[in-house]
Amino acid sequence: MATVIKKSGNLTKEDEVKEFLTKNGIDYEHWEVPQEALVYTKKETLSDKEKEELLQTVNHRFLELQKKFGYQTRDLVVLHPNVPNIDEMLAKFDKVHYHTDEEVRYILDGSGYFGFIGKNEKFLVHVTESDFISVPRNTNHWFYLDDRKRIKAVRYFTDTAGWVPNYVDQKASLED
Ligand SMILES: [Fe+2]
Repeated sequence: MATVIKKSGNLTKEDEVKEFLTKNGIDYEHWEVPQEALVYTKKETLSDKEKEELLQTVNHRFLELQKKFGYQTRDLVVLHPNVPNIDEMLAKFDKVHYHTDEEVRYILDGSGYFGFIGKNEKFLVHVTESDFISVPRNTNHWFYLDDRKRIKAVRYFTDTAGWVPNYVDQKASLED
């Protein structure tokens, strides 16, 4: 269950989180990870075959999103402390940036933080398993893992080629 962290007070209730994110233009859903996915999500590493099998357990979400928003592809990101160069990989996204496409994620395991500039103040969204989040295109944000350094997330794309970070000169923290 996602929580919103901000200086004016945190939000932990699902309806409050959803309302706040909607106001900030961010799509959020709580989609319980299906039981049959757990055999895969509990493992630290997955083979390509297991990744595809895990994606199949939530394929109905892809079909819905494809119908609604036209997403063409999806893949699975698996990160854990033993991934080589994990810190270099994460350093690409922990600075404030935007994409010209939406950043669409369904968290199946683990957790992390999305940071946003926000309409009135900066805030963080701590996402965990069963959270779906769509960061709108051209929206400044940043992302980092929490101390567990572990996440499994489905990424949905209309076009992977256009999906690169464009950096902006802002501070990736709740401080101004
Ligand atoms: Fe991003």
